[in-house]
Amino acid sequence: MADFSGRTVILTGATGGFGRAAARYFSNAGASLVLSDLHPDPLGELAEELGGKARAIAGDISEPELSERLVEAAMSGFGRLDIAVNNAGIVHDLARLPETPVKVARQIIDVDLLGVFYAMRAQLPAMEQRFRDTGETAAIVNVASVAGVVGAPMLSVYAAAKHGVVGLTKSAAIEYARRGVRVNALCPSFARTPMATEFLEKADKDRDAAEAALVQAIPMRRLAEVDEVIAGLVFLADPASSFVTGQTLQIDGGLSAA
Ligand SMILES: NC(=O)c1ccc[n+]([C@@H]2O[C@H](COP(=O)([O-])OP(=O)(O)OC[C@H]3O[C@@H](n4cnc5c(N)ncnc54)[C@H](O)[C@@H]3O)[C@@H](O)[C@H]2O)c1
Repeated sequence: MADFSGRTVILTGATGGFGRAAARYFSNAGASLVLSDLHPDPLGELAEELGGKARAIAGDISEPELSERLVEAAMSGFGRLDIAVNNAGIVHDLARLPETPVKVARQIIDVDLLGVFYAMRAQLPAMEQRFRDTGETAAIVNVASVAGVVGAPMLSVYAAAKHGVVGLTKSAAIEYARRGVRVNALCPSFARTPMATEFLEKADKDRDAAEAALVQAIPMRRLAEVDEVIAGLVFLADPASSFVTGQTLQIDGGLSAA
């Protein structure tokens, strides 16, 4: 297990599949956490489970003010911000591009793309300031998707938003390369989280058939386990990965290599 003792982590989408696993990992590895998600009750329960080193702030990531509040909470509560994991996200139902409703497209862009923009807009200045004051570096991990590096038929707007996250990641990484902040994007394929489970259930009446069709495109012929995704997330967040910036890390059983 990597050592994050004394570090402070902002984590959005904290009560989802990847979020819960990441929150537990960072907490066990000694970090203090500012957790955020839409609904206060499950968020409060998670913070309670993790003990005194976790604060919970519920809100909608598509509202820019939330990201500012999360940074303020890290600074006022723990005096520092070392790592931000911008993980909150949604997916839309399978549909060809012309059949994707405009309202849905706007919502996906608001949450999946602009949510990450608002987050980094608040996080980067605080991280840079601390680097100037103390010389200590920070890391941002944006949870994109393998749909951020290859096309995703029937998920065009989701893919566009996640490609956008990769564009934000690479650009910010270059802007902040000498300002003490590493910025990388995690790009998983389908993993066993509530998002993927709900998606599969909606995609086809026969869930097993839908899963089989999905894994056909994956050289390893299976979904990712959540812990396999968290291992990549931890690698990007770990201060030991000090020369890794502007990268996408595909955790995809070989999908994007094909
Ligand atoms: N599970 C997968 O197969 C998979 C694959 C590739 C990428 N991803 C990405 O990983 C991230 C986490 O996904 P997950 O699988 O854990 O999904 P999940 O649905 O289990 O968790 C996502 C969390 O984000 C929160 N959220 C949604 N909209 C929000 C908003 N507007 N403001 C604040 N919080 C909001 C949800 O409440 C939820 O707790 C997402 O960005 C997703 O696109 C997931």
